[in-house]
Amino acid sequence: MMARHFLRLADLPLDAARRIFDRAAEHKADRRSGVTGNTLAGKTLVLLFEKPSTRTRVSFEAAIFQLGGHAITLPWAESQASRGEPLTDTARVLSSYADAIVFRTFGEARLLELASAAAVPVINALTDEGHPVQVLTDLFTVQERFGSLEGRKVAWIGDGASNMARSWAEAAALFGMELRISAPRGYELPEDLRHANVRHVSSPAEAVRDADVVATDTWTSMGHEGEREVRLRAFHGYTVDLDLLDRAPSTAILLHCLPAVRGEEITAEAIESPRSVIFEQAENRLHVQKALLEYLLLE
Ligand code: CP
Ligand code: NVA
Repeated sequence: MMARHFLRLADLPLDAARRIFDRAAEHKADRRSGVTGNTLAGKTLVLLFEKPSTRTRVSFEAAIFQLGGHAITLPWAESQASRGEPLTDTARVLSSYADAIVFRTFGEARLLELASAAAVPVINALTDEGHPVQVLTDLFTVQERFGSLEGRKVAWIGDGASNMARSWAEAAALFGMELRISAPRGYELPEDLRHANVRHVSSPAEAVRDADVVATDTWTSMGHEGEREVRLRAFHGYTVDLDLLDRAPSTAILLHCLPAVRGEEITAEAIESPRSVIFEQAENRLHVQKALLEYLLLE
């Protein structure tokens, strides 16, 4: 049988996503009250990251440890894959040692190559084309605040072609939300990912008007460092600041997956403003990924 991978949001049937959100809420309550779990006892997770990470790596490690299992992070530079061993051989071997593989890489083709040869679930920990574990967490965070996802209006400000924006576009289709993207010319959502629930709007102010969620991400994603100066110029005027937030309803929440570059895509004041749930969003990675691991490894 093919392993049950989590490579994109659409890999989760909607009812599974709802169960994951319910279970994540239980994990959150348990952690707050000091209750520990053992549901993943004896399970081993291998993490392989071709790009840096703080949240994804540590939240996955903590998630499996706190549920009784183990994590092995294989530093990319110390792996034979970094010396050219095929990803398919790597996947076959790691599948015989571990119960799931978490992989962060560049192009999605590399993720698909690894997954094609893995006998255990492969989890997409970010590619150039998507960041589904982050957006799954963001959806949980939105549902936590508003009680539901359907019909929510999400304003995406800044890089409309980033991995985060692409996963948000997928989420909007799956969960019936309206995504309004305000991005500079040349940085819009790629045409093949557009659908009826996505709209490009001319200004950030128009995007946030009557929005439930205001979201942004770095202007220079990992792998694009060489374009930083060009991007800084292109994104001028797209900073999420208090003035922009004031144009959104008082009930709107502010999301950022972090890491943030203060003074570029977001100001320090916006991050610390009462609408910001950014650090709770980061915390939620732990709870949601516990529930995701249980779904992939136990169900
Ligand atoms: N948001 C996120 O994925 O952060 P890291 O790059 O630190 O994992
Ligand atoms: N778009 C960002 C997300 C970081 C978690 C990047 O790819 O660098």
